[in-house]
Amino acid sequence: MSEPRKIIIDTDPGQDDAAAIMLALGSPELDILGITTVAGNVPLTLTSRNARIILEFCGRPDVKVFAGADKPVARPLITAEHVHGKTGLDGPELHDPQMPLQAQHAVDFIIETLKREPAGTVTLCTLGPLSNIATALEKAPEIAGRVRELVMMGGGFFEGGNITPAAEFNIYVDPEAAATVFKSGIPIVMMPLDVTHKVLTLKSRVAKLREIGSRPAIALVEMLDFFERFDIEKYGSDGGPLHDPTVIAYLLKPELFSGRDCNVEVEAASPLTVGMTVVDWWQVTGRKHNARVMKDVDADGFFALLTERVGRL
Ligand code: RIB
Ligand code: CA
Repeated sequence: MSEPRKIIIDTDPGQDDAAAIMLALGSPELDILGITTVAGNVPLTLTSRNARIILEFCGRPDVKVFAGADKPVARPLITAEHVHGKTGLDGPELHDPQMPLQAQHAVDFIIETLKREPAGTVTLCTLGPLSNIATALEKAPEIAGRVRELVMMGGGFFEGGNITPAAEFNIYVDPEAAATVFKSGIPIVMMPLDVTHKVLTLKSRVAKLREIGSRPAIALVEMLDFFERFDIEKYGSDGGPLHDPTVIAYLLKPELFSGRDCNVEVEAASPLTVGMTVVDWWQVTGRKHNARVMKDVDADGFFALLTERVGRL
């Protein structure tokens, strides 16, 4: 195997964030340099608590967690307890984490890491609002040229939005930050709702996770049992969309996904469509491509990968 791929996971756990972190922990192809937390699904104190709980469920208190932005760069925080529960990780019985938070701010950790590691060797995996990344870019614009790739869960186009008819939650919470990131020149891979709404936690898929029987697997199943109820109710679907692990799965098996290079702009002004990702899928604007936008996924292949890797924890 070649050198493990160095990644930073920026996250707002969140049950689906937990699945993504577990997938990364179970994959020796990846070297998690650190986990940075951001306010999103729930406030920062809880996302920072939840990241450590997830790591301790997996017996990995060695992975460093850095707390970041407690609000968006230019507007009040909006959270999603209605989806994730008041803890943000409702489902399993949760313990108080024993592992410490790092003293360094997440933004400074991101900047320092990108400056220390050879240029083009660190991948940013963003699973929540982009407040930390945008703040890092504002503070140290030179890091943009040092990022290997930024793979994000965020946005939507043919699928529309999930928090409003036009906007997906991660972009909606901090549209100014998202606009900064899409303008940064960093090579971006975007996993929008058009992909994540195709990876549903079908009963047969959750059953395979449950069969693993380990502490992390059971905790994940209990999280998913809670998390999916909102989307089942809303969409009448069999299971809920497992958004965030698509980011990690892309690093491990990019062939599971298909999409195309597009121009993506973010609406940050209109009250009606704020947070909308305007994806020029049909290439009509002539605007510069700034993201590889994914649209389709091999859902069975995705869940087989997730199950196999969680089984290694
Ligand atoms: O819209 C889905 C995204 O918002 C996921 O990352 C979920 O965890 C929430 O952060
Ligand atoms: Ca998330």
